[in-house]
Amino acid sequence: MAGGIKVQILDDEQAVAGLAAKFIVELLRRRPDAVLGLATGSTPEPTYDELVRLHCEEGLSFSKVRTLNLDEYLGLDGDHEQSFRFFMQKHLFGHLDIRPWNTFIFDGMAREPEQECLAFEAKIRGLGGVDLWLLGLGGNGHIAFNEPGSTAGSRSRVVTPDPETVEANSRHFADPREVPRRGLTVGVGTILDGRSIVLLATGAHKAEAVARAVEGPRSVDCPASLLQDHPDCFFLLDRPAAARLS
Ligand code: GLP
Repeated sequence: MAGGIKVQILDDEQAVAGLAAKFIVELLRRRPDAVLGLATGSTPEPTYDELVRLHCEEGLSFSKVRTLNLDEYLGLDGDHEQSFRFFMQKHLFGHLDIRPWNTFIFDGMAREPEQECLAFEAKIRGLGGVDLWLLGLGGNGHIAFNEPGSTAGSRSRVVTPDPETVEANSRHFADPREVPRRGLTVGVGTILDGRSIVLLATGAHKAEAVARAVEGPRSVDCPASLLQDHPDCFFLLDRPAAARLS
């Protein structure tokens, strides 16, 4: 099922956010109870701001929407300021009419993390699959916490993020030693099962990973390149992130 990644190059991160939000608005128009797969990180923040604006100013409703998040730190409670649950509450959920019980994120304090991963896969199946995964991109080509070496068939599991990912994420922590060394993530296969994928990348520091993902060989060395096989995958890029595309 060769798809090829469809690329949209936009002027700046605001334009990327505007188009990403438009994808979601169009989906919700067709399907008000859509299942969204959501990312954390700095990249989607302007998109979440735009969705909040659309909700507050233009009445975009999330009252029937279901969401699943890509990943979570193992060992952080949802009340911890650096947990992805806290991030989602702060940047998105807390400003929308979304029902809290329709938002699903791995429990970072799960006593049996492997069981938590199996339950998350079952939850996705129970919701009828994901309509749209909104992804970010790591500088080493990772998606969610699927680091290089993750296969196209990988499913939700416990992972140990690469040192460069820990380093990149340490900017959010007061003390870099506080960054959890393990995470819970959906797999590349879990993402590929989604009906559509929209990956956002902004900034020159993402340019190399973008080029490898879009134009490089399809390889586990760059997990985002495995998205080339998806029939409906868009990369929304600002100019600096697109600079190394041929
Ligand atoms: C983290 C997350 C990813 C995210 C990536 C990029 O490691 N697990 O889901 O896409 O970093 O983050 P940022 O958007 O802040 O560059």
